Amino acid sequence: MSDRPVATSLGTALAGQFPVSPNNPCPFLRALVANGYVGGHVVPLSQLAETIGAASGETGSAQTRVRIATRVIAGIANGLGPASVIRSATSGAVLDELRDGPLDKHGGGSRILDAEAKVHDEQIERLASFGKDCKDPSGGIETGLTAKEIEAFMAANIKRDGDAARWYFPILMKGEWPVLLKILGKGEGETRYLSVAEVRTLFVERRFPERITARLPKPAAPRM
Ligand code: HEM
Repeated sequence: MSDRPVATSLGTALAGQFPVSPNNPCPFLRALVANGYVGGHVVPLSQLAETIGAASGETGSAQTRVRIATRVIAGIANGLGPASVIRSATSGAVLDELRDGPLDKHGGGSRILDAEAKVHDEQIERLASFGKDCKDPSGGIETGLTAKEIEAFMAANIKRDGDAARWYFPILMKGEWPVLLKILGKGEGETRYLSVAEVRTLFVERRFPERITARLPKPAAPRM
């Protein structure tokens, strides 16, 4: 695999959103790009850290930790070589060149997004099959995954990947679904859960729930 992927195609845009490249495989970043919170190509690490810090809803030193973690992850996301790391640190992370980078598990994750960034609904159903009925703090019952079920889901993903799974995949995964649970989860403590309906909206519609967008500054609007 070359250090820099050749394809940086613009990708598709959903109605009223910015286009997102298929070479951006992260559902969280895809929604940030689609809704104009960050650009789709080179994004300075400081801007990425600030945006994700705000989205996390954390304040004070907890938000500082989120910002630092984001800088570290985004700083190596386009390649581990010195040239790549320096380029990320000085110009920014290249969000439409994340595919085939060091964080890409090539099918070792949920497989909800394929290599062309198409959403596979049957994989969202599979995610749901790990969940259970959860009590929505604002009323009603819905299918969701608590930290425990997310652990089981991630372990099953590694198992499904068989010999292709690398030793460090479980480490990468800790920065994906468990962090999404932290940011998007409903409820507190052991009962905090990730709503499958909201995961579907994130992947399919590239949208965050309003309680998350309320934490973010007003984004750029796409030209109609
Ligand atoms: C709070 C911030 C973030 C959250 C909640 C988040 C969450 C996720 C989730 C849930 C996945 C899906 C994994 C799967 O399908 O199994 C993912 C994948 C990915 N994320 Fe993020 N992410 C965040 C920040 C970032 C950052 C800053 C980068 C790099 C600049 C990044 C790069 C990736 C990549 C490359 C993948 C694809 C992994 C794969 O397909 O194996 N993410 N992320």
